[in-house]
Amino acid sequence: MGNLSTIEQPPQAQKGTGGAGRSSRKAQEVKESDLKHLLYLQAIVKETLRLYPAGPLSVPHEAMEDCTVAGFHVPARTRLFVNLWKLQRDPCIWSNPSEFQPERFLTEHAHFDVRGQNFEFIPFGSGRRSCPGISLALQVLHLSLARLLHGFNLERLSEELVDMSEGPGMTMPKTTPLEVILVPRLPSMLYG
Ligand code: HEM
Repeated sequence: MGNLSTIEQPPQAQKGTGGAGRSSRKAQEVKESDLKHLLYLQAIVKETLRLYPAGPLSVPHEAMEDCTVAGFHVPARTRLFVNLWKLQRDPCIWSNPSEFQPERFLTEHAHFDVRGQNFEFIPFGSGRRSCPGISLALQVLHLSLARLLHGFNLERLSEELVDMSEGPGMTMPKTTPLEVILVPRLPSMLYG
């Protein structure tokens, strides 16, 4: 739920529904067929997976036999942990690497996808053992986030910013549980 960073920047949250909340669309819920048009929402999901990869150290891999990778000799049974968190915050690649800036995926990194083709950004891993759940995960993430942002205004409990710091764990838990106020913004019949 790193996309809770959008709560810190309400205009971003509104842009996330890409106008689905305006005029005639306001009285409808977001449909799966809308998702392909919600480019800013897609950028929010990418930026979230960049800053808060669900598996920050991916999963361990082990070489079955001796091999050479990029000129390095790797003996059989070597264990490899890929630090995705660090890769995806590399200041040589990303400007303001710790800032939540979805726009980067519409501008300088617009060509980056999440399917393991750009090694600077591999939240689902890369290659033959990359995540097989990627299509399901993306579909669910996009639809859930779009419906949340379209259906509710999100407000903090106080002036205090949401604590986005990460706790220890294999799956990037939040240190402080999130508390926000959800205010419905659509006709009540859509919440049945
Ligand atoms: C945001 C959601 C998800 C993220 C960020 C994610 C990320 C990852 C990563 C980084 C790996 C390790 C890839 C590697 O070793 O290179 C992985 C493996 C895996 N994921 Fe996901 N995953 C997500 C959702 C899912 C879902 C929804 C499913 C199943 C329905 C799933 C099933 C698996 C399985 C079975 C593996 C092990 C694949 C193998 O070792 O061959 N994941 N995932």
